[in-house]
Amino acid sequence: MGRVGFGVAVGCAVVTCAIAAVLVGRRVQNRRKWRRAVEVLREFEEGCATSIGRLGQVVDAMAVEMHAGLASDGGSKLKMLLTFIDNLPDGNAKGTYYALDLGGTNFRVLRVRLGGKGSMIISHQVEYHPIPQELMSGTSEDLFDYIAMTLKQFVERADDGSEQKADEKKELGFTFSFPVRQMSVSSGILVKWTKGFSVEDAVGKDIAQCLEEAMTKAGLNMQVAALQVNDIVGTLALCHYYDKDTVAAVIIGTGTNACYVERTDAIIKCQGLLKNSGGTVVNMEWGNFWSSHLPRTSYDIALDDESPNSNDQGFEKMISGMYLGEITRRVLYRMAQESDIFGDGAYNLSIRFILRTPSMAAMHEDDSPDLREVRRILTETLQVPHVSLRARRLIVRVCDIVTRRAARLAAAGIVGILKKIGRDGSGVASGRAKGTPRRTVVAIEGALYVNYSMFREYLNEAVVEILGEEAAQNVVLRVSEDGSGIGAALLAAAHSSNR
Ligand code: BGC
Repeated sequence: MGRVGFGVAVGCAVVTCAIAAVLVGRRVQNRRKWRRAVEVLREFEEGCATSIGRLGQVVDAMAVEMHAGLASDGGSKLKMLLTFIDNLPDGNAKGTYYALDLGGTNFRVLRVRLGGKGSMIISHQVEYHPIPQELMSGTSEDLFDYIAMTLKQFVERADDGSEQKADEKKELGFTFSFPVRQMSVSSGILVKWTKGFSVEDAVGKDIAQCLEEAMTKAGLNMQVAALQVNDIVGTLALCHYYDKDTVAAVIIGTGTNACYVERTDAIIKCQGLLKNSGGTVVNMEWGNFWSSHLPRTSYDIALDDESPNSNDQGFEKMISGMYLGEITRRVLYRMAQESDIFGDGAYNLSIRFILRTPSMAAMHEDDSPDLREVRRILTETLQVPHVSLRARRLIVRVCDIVTRRAARLAAAGIVGILKKIGRDGSGVASGRAKGTPRRTVVAIEGALYVNYSMFREYLNEAVVEILGEEAAQNVVLRVSEDGSGIGAALLAAAHSSNR
């Protein structure tokens, strides 16, 4: 080999070594970045841990806060609102009842025919109507006149000749999803409007009375038998109608809440106000529950800080559909910042609430071997294409951690309620001797539980884990649907003066 040949060979060797060094260096760097992404996942997983011991603490905290909220207004972050509902519908109710569900820019009118024992709900009809924009900021008279007139036309259309006697007053359950100070089962004062309404002269008025006056003016022989201020009460009513062992209800959808039947003498803050001696439904507003035992991460803290209602609805922000996608997005964004597993174009991951919970659930439940659904959502929703399969697997892990924590905490909340009313099988709170188990039904409504099977499985599993196999045999979680509509008509039946 001549001198030139030798020089070329040496040159090639040097270039090859340099390329190899760059490649090795890049691989080391990639591995380091990958490890960083995995570390972010590990830290998050640790922060979200819900060991059985931790869940037990949440159960106890829930029961303690319930006591405190019943003792005095403001005694706990749990509001424990009185509903004055002391009579839940059962399958014996008979007749035709109506419901009006006003909670936003649309309202619903319903007619439910109950057949009494054995035949249950014979039929139900529903109509949706928009509220004209100008009525949302007009006078209360105009708003309620419009609603009463629409209701009257519905009643006339729906009448199929099976009606009760023409001169008999029709009974209405009224779901009114705005802040109301309830005065009795059929009356309540509007505290303020939300959701775009500003009918100022209605504030401070009894809204059931406003509606009744408008119905009389419209020539409609109907009265408000039950004012149902919260969807959760309808959930309980509907489930109780089918199953008399129902003692509590939980909604886990966009928002979350729970209510249950409490002994009147245990509601210390309302002594004297309640006339009946049995039980009354308490709307817990459990979305606002807080305890230092809740496993809270830096992502939850940042989400709360940046929310319009920071320091409020702490439990809701960890478990409800409004937030699970957003928590996931925050973790993924952190991974994108600390590693390059999503490439350079992960800008969309910085956009708040861009990842909605249904998309997150779809990624979580993607069982295709190459995680096709995850890739689709990354590409279409987050505009992050070309993410490797192992990075997609990491994303599924994040979804799993977020959902598992949410479901297990919700389960602890449910057992907390059961503990408070002595239905958790421990026999302590109720003073009942062990060994006399009663069947206990908890109604559950809401898309997260109903449509997201991994969430549902984690929740069901955790209830059994916390209660223990034996006690869990007496607890039934029963799916309920459309409490705020049908449930309201059933409450009208239970509180009807025609009974
Ligand atoms: C509200 C509750 C409601 C729940 C479910 C929560 O955000 O505070 O009043 O029952 O959502 O809709």
